[in-house]
Amino acid sequence: MAVSLHFLLILTLITGTESAGTISKVSVEAGASVSIPCPYSSQHRNNVKYLCEGYYWNSCSYAIKTNSQHESEKYSISDDQIQRIFNVTIKRLTVKNTDYWCAVEIKSGSDDRQYFHLSVTKGTPSLFVDDQKVTGFIGENMTINCHSRISGIIKWCKLHSTCVADVSGLIDGTTVTINMKETNVFSVTMSGLRPESSGWYYCAKGDFQMPVHLTVTTKPTGK
Ligand SMILES: *[C@@H]1O[C@H](CO)[C@@H](O)[C@H](O)[C@H]1NC(C)=O
Ligand SMILES: *[C@@H]1O[C@H](CO)[C@@H](O)[C@H](O)[C@H]1NC(C)=O
Repeated sequence: MAVSLHFLLILTLITGTESAGTISKVSVEAGASVSIPCPYSSQHRNNVKYLCEGYYWNSCSYAIKTNSQHESEKYSISDDQIQRIFNVTIKRLTVKNTDYWCAVEIKSGSDDRQYFHLSVTKGTPSLFVDDQKVTGFIGENMTINCHSRISGIIKWCKLHSTCVADVSGLIDGTTVTINMKETNVFSVTMSGLRPESSGWYYCAKGDFQMPVHLTVTTKPTGK
């Protein structure tokens, strides 16, 4: 264990990459919707996934589950068992919608869970993107703008994979370049998209994250 941690540290220092964590704090404007990806481990592919609302795990209440209705007025949930990530969407956010747990039901023991906080703002959020869903074409480049007025370290990460925390680096074989475009905007360019580049990513700055889902397809040919 000590050896492999050491190795990871060295790898981090050399490549400017580090392994991606989970989404823990997201800033959103009141009234808007947000989708949060919840990664899970391969042994839990077929388990029931759910979203629980409340600051304390012991007293949180079910918001939505994969084994019952997948959509309500307020919430929706979908499970991508290939990517091992389930997606929860919370709609019409109010300042009361702040504390949640992504959870996986475990039959023989306590459920796996991961807390996240929504910082619901009356004005411009602390970190946001133009669209949480983007599409790119194989072999081309894709640029995502992340808007932020807060200070802190900038990162671009792929869930279940790695982060680029510097001006450039590699994620799953695709080159990632981060540029400061304006004072409050940084752009992330992924060059030479591959089908494997599809999936959930996030921009991070300071202790905020903003998830973005990228779909990479073949470019439609014109007539
Ligand atoms: C996440 O869930 C929302 C609401 O159901 C849906 O619109 C969106 O397409 C989902 N995103 C992905 C990447 O599956
Ligand atoms: C894509 O990105 C690469 C590397 O950053 C760059 O050399 C290339 O010119 C870009 N291609 C396009 C079409 O913008």
